[in-house]
Amino acid sequence: MTTSANISPFAPKLAPSILAANHANLREGLDKILGLPIEWLHLDIMDGHFVPNLSFGPKTIADLRPMAPDLFFDTHLMLSRPDLMIDAFADAGSNQITVHVEPFYPILETLREIRGKGLKAGLALNPGTPLERVFPFLEEIDLLLLMTVQPGFGGQSFRHDVLDKIKAAHEIREQQNLPFRIEVDGGVDSDTATLCAAAGADSFVCGTAFFKADNLENFRRNIEG
Ligand code: DX5
Ligand code: ZN
Repeated sequence: MTTSANISPFAPKLAPSILAANHANLREGLDKILGLPIEWLHLDIMDGHFVPNLSFGPKTIADLRPMAPDLFFDTHLMLSRPDLMIDAFADAGSNQITVHVEPFYPILETLREIRGKGLKAGLALNPGTPLERVFPFLEEIDLLLLMTVQPGFGGQSFRHDVLDKIKAAHEIREQQNLPFRIEVDGGVDSDTATLCAAAGADSFVCGTAFFKADNLENFRRNIEG
């Protein structure tokens, strides 16, 4: 990606997803990130209900926290009832907690609870969810996560049909002068990141593409400039 592709008011941020690392030795995957000037770590939490997969929980985050005191823990809750676990993921050391708009739970109160704890609040949409679903919450968030795969698994193919949604979200952000980042997540690599940046995205979750990259610093530089 060339930084000229970036039209967002925010500087581009790479958020490697530790889901794609070796879960029998997370320290190894974390050390690859700590060895580079990367500031964000994306932590994918799955409940086997909202998404058909299970990943890890608050204790994993709490154990990773002291190993990476300066990393911004970008926690992505793919849970049917994220409102029941905000305390747990906040106490474990998250810096940002992103919840999905699709399940039925008190979304507004949950976003305000996250911010009330001094954390950044994110709201996520699956590829098939219309952007209109988040309109009531745009003043309540610091990050809008537009999934570019159906959540549940790493290593899926990027969904180009989401690019129009990214463009629309960027236009609304500009028109209403709203200070939320636009994050993309799923099948993001150097090439698809360029497309997303040109549409207005500024935060790039990369799991497979990051951990499979031949040269991690070159990969980072392609995304962050
Ligand atoms: C999928 C997760 C993504 C995923 C990204 O449900 O939310 O963060 O781990 O992995 P890649 O980059 O491999 O698609
Ligand atoms: Zn994610």
